[in-house]
Amino acid sequence: MSQTSDIEILVLYYSRSGATARMARHVARGIEEVKHCSARVRTVPPVSATCEAVAADIPADGPPYATLEDLRECQGLALGSPTRFGNMAAPLKYFLDQSSGLWLAGALAGKPAGVFTSTGTQHGGQETTLLSMIIPLLHHGMLITGIPYTEPALSETTSGGTPYGASHVAGTQGNNPLTDHERTLCHALGRRLARTALALVRGIKE
Ligand SMILES: Cc1cc2nc3c(=O)[nH]c(=O)nc-3n(C[C@H](O)[C@H](O)[C@H](O)COP(=O)(O)O)c2cc1C
Repeated sequence: MSQTSDIEILVLYYSRSGATARMARHVARGIEEVKHCSARVRTVPPVSATCEAVAADIPADGPPYATLEDLRECQGLALGSPTRFGNMAAPLKYFLDQSSGLWLAGALAGKPAGVFTSTGTQHGGQETTLLSMIIPLLHHGMLITGIPYTEPALSETTSGGTPYGASHVAGTQGNNPLTDHERTLCHALGRRLARTALALVRGIKE
């Protein structure tokens, strides 16, 4: 956490071909628009069906791999995954499946959380993926922020963007840039998480 930040939000994502990673950067920007708040960006390694395949400890590029301490230390969570058959990607689910110690300790209970996803196609399961990501976070007792319709982009978008979380239609080749609306809603998700975490932490202290 930087010296001047009271609040750190973990932006935790998996991305194989870069679309969810691009969203993560915009969510982080939204977080850092809020005074006293910063983003801690982390990813997770791929999982392999080959038992012997072991990923390097440090990714070749991009942010470091997340540890459970990242989850424990942060005051809020933005969780991002590509849509895989209408569901969260296995590497992210695998990471969350290791968090039962945090669940037993109630370490995430009461912290705000939001979700984001990228799909190949417009109607390929964004909402189902976002809801699948919310379920384990509810088990952890996290407070789901979503995106409110007071954000005009939510009503105006003709691509991604849902009240359940931010989303992006990357296209079947995966190379669509984020639309202005999609980007705006990533920022909105980050800002809302940061503001909520700040209000909760300050409220508890007082
Ligand atoms: C195994 C697999 C399953 C997928 N399932 C879906 C799907 O159900 N709906 C969809 O629209 N796109 C699906 N896709 C496409 C990805 O969601 C899409 O390319 C996404 O933008 C990838 O994000 P990334 O660039 O962060 O890896 C799938 C891709 C893979 C590899």
